[in-house]
This record gives sequence, C-alpha cells and structure tokens, in this order.
Amino acid sequence: MSMFNNVSNSIPFLDLVTPHLELEQELTGVFRRALHTAGFIGGPMVEDFEEAFAAFCSTNFSIAVSSGTDALRFAIMTCGVQPGDVVLTVPHTFIATTEAISQAGAVPEFVDIDARTYNMSVESLQLYLEEQCSRDGSGKLISLRSGRPVTAVVPVHLYGQMADMDLIMSLASQYGLTVIEDACQAHGAEYFSKKFNRWMKAGSMGSAAAFSFYPGKNLGACGEAGAVTTNDACIADKIKMLRDHGQVKKYHHDVEGYNGRLDAIQAGLLHAKLAHLAKWNTQRRDRAAEYNRLLGADKTLTLPYEPTWSCAVYHLYVIRTDDRAGLMSHLNKAGIGTGIHYPIPLHMQRAYASLNYCLEDFPVARRIAAEIVSLPMFPQLTVDQQRRVAEEVLAFASTASDERVESEANILIPALQTV
Ligand SMILES: Cc1ncc(COP(=O)(O)O)c(C=O)c1O
Repeated sequence: MSMFNNVSNSIPFLDLVTPHLELEQELTGVFRRALHTAGFIGGPMVEDFEEAFAAFCSTNFSIAVSSGTDALRFAIMTCGVQPGDVVLTVPHTFIATTEAISQAGAVPEFVDIDARTYNMSVESLQLYLEEQCSRDGSGKLISLRSGRPVTAVVPVHLYGQMADMDLIMSLASQYGLTVIEDACQAHGAEYFSKKFNRWMKAGSMGSAAAFSFYPGKNLGACGEAGAVTTNDACIADKIKMLRDHGQVKKYHHDVEGYNGRLDAIQAGLLHAKLAHLAKWNTQRRDRAAEYNRLLGADKTLTLPYEPTWSCAVYHLYVIRTDDRAGLMSHLNKAGIGTGIHYPIPLHMQRAYASLNYCLEDFPVARRIAAEIVSLPMFPQLTVDQQRRVAEEVLAFASTASDERVESEANILIPALQTV
C-alpha cells in the first residue's frame, strides 16, 4: 500500500502553472505591450524573438511559424522534396512528424530505431539504403517498396536527445539525401560532432530543422507556436513566403502559401521565456541525474541511455519495464502522473494502413512502445518529489519481482514432479 495516495501529495506529470506564475509580471508585460501597440501579427516582437532563437540554436536564421507541424511541413517543402518523393523517418515518434511529410506531398517510409537511444538506428538506415533501394537510369535513388524517389531523411531528436547526426549526415550525403531535423522536443540539446570536432546544437546540423513551442515543450508558448531554423538564406526566404500566403510583398503572391504565421503575443512570451531556457535545461539534466541515481540499482528497469556524444535536455524522462500497466496503475494510485510517449508505433496506426507495413517490420520500435513509461519531469520538480516517485517505482518493482520469483517457483515445482 502506498504512503502517498493522499491527493494533496500528488505529483503531476508536468507542472505548467509554476513557471508561468514565477514569470507572471514579465509575461503580462508582453500582453500589455501588444495591447498598447495593437501589434498582433508580425512586427518587432516576432523579429526579435526570431533573432534570439537563431542565436540560441547557433543558426543564421529562425523563422517563427504557427506550430511545430507547420515548421516541419514548411522545412520539407523548401528543402528540395518534390510531391510523391519518399521521406525517411522513424515509426517511434509523434504522428506530427509523418503528417508534415504527407502534407508536404511526400510519402513517409520508416527505418527502425536504436534499442538504447530510441532514435533513428544508423544501422537500419544503412540497411534500408543498401538493400531496399535501387538506382534508376538517371542515378536517382528509388525505394523498392513504393517505386518512388527517396530524397530526404527526417531524424527525430526524441525526448530531448539528438540522433547520431554525424553518421546520419554522412549516409545522407553518400546517397544524396537532404537531412531535415525534427527538433520539436530538443530545444538546446547538443551533439558532439567528430566531423566538426565541437558540440553542435539541435537544429544547426541539417539543411533545416523544426521546433515546436507547444506549451509542454522545454520552451513552450502559451498556445500554439513553432519555428524553423536554417543556415540557408534561400530556405529562410521561402519559408517566410510560405507562412504568409506565398507573398513576398503585400498582395504579390509568387506561390500559394498558408496562414502559418506566429502571432506577436506568443513571440513576445517565448522571447521572455527563452532567457530562462538554458537554466531550465540544466535543471532537467540535474533531475535526470537524480532519477538515475535513485533508480539505477534496480535491474528490472531500463533507464535512459545518454551516449558520450550527447548532451540531452530531457524533455521527457523515459524508463522501461516489462509490466508497464502495473507500474502506471501503482503510480496513479500513489497520486503520481505518468505518460506513454508513444504507445503505438506509426507503422501500426490505422492512419498508415495504406503504407502496407506489417507489425513485425520494426521490431525494436514495437518492443519499446510496449515497455516505455515517462516519469514526472519538469525543471521545478523537487528532490523530495523525485524521492517519492523513486520510492514508489522501486516499491512496485520489488513486489513485481517477488511475484515473478513465486510464479517461477510454481512452474518449477510441477516440472520437477514429472521427472
Ligand atoms: C517529435 C514531434 N514532432 C512534431 C511535433 C509537432 O509540433 P506541434 O504540436 O507544435 O505542431 C511534435 C509536438 O508534439 C513532436 O513532439
């Protein structure tokens, strides 16, 4: 029985109220500024935020848009992907990754994930390129499963940790693919590039990258918001056009675009919060280290794996257990919030039935989706709260392993009797 099933003692999966109360004055100042100037769309608040976010990501440009999904769609549309092309990604991600690919007119195909980092497996990508593609007469890379040209790859920096970008970039360049980063969960994450011999920020390595500022993200708006980062002035200009009905100048439409602008209030709020992001990311890393320390001795749990080349920002702290439902129910009774990111891999979703994948096609993604559970993770999580979470996780894990020993003994005894 839990010591913590008192509701007032509950620990949320995510606390979005405290950080906003801490910054209340600053944030309401942004609203006031917008009200007093009626600068709701575009203008200095958007431009100032774009400049600051580009500096944060170490890129030449950042283009603010209305969501992470729009950011990824616009990035794909402006990076040379043609309608009908195949864009490679992973099945273990939020559906927005593949929605953006489809909405850009391309077709998603999947490669499996790495069993330790849960990001794109470089081996699976290499196998796909070597064994599931051919070259047509003009040397174009063609997918054998769909007969379509393969032109881009979208690694997803899931849970705040970057994919193995040097190797992905090098395979992409060998096969002539454009790399577009889905950095929607990775604001401030870093990767040590052996190629450049330095740490590089999420969003600065591909041709372009997409960020989401959905409220629960490491940098979250008070509504919907997103941004594309790029070092390429031409891509930046095209995205500015696409987000604003395809116009370069008022009522001069070079192409059909979208209403994909970020409003000025959200930009102002994001700019105010951006000043705290590095500190919040450090706090998340500290919380992750504390969870690792508290839970590390339990061999029934698999904790997050951070390779030496990664500096993750723990958008989520995800562990694995073979009795996920039992653990979640135990934590729920103890008043502790949890989540699953994500329970059904995309190749198994009804929305992608037409892609004709089999359940067994991506065994790692399938196994991991059945075992993962996300524990409470946010910068303001206290050490006491973490201790309580860990106590309950360990209490459950030890009961579960006692039950396992008992049931194994029950299997063994009749087996021995038959000898
Ligand atoms: C990996 C990933 N890609 C794309 C998105 C889409 O972002 P948004 O919700 O801002 O459209 C999200 C947001 O949840 C995400 O987690």
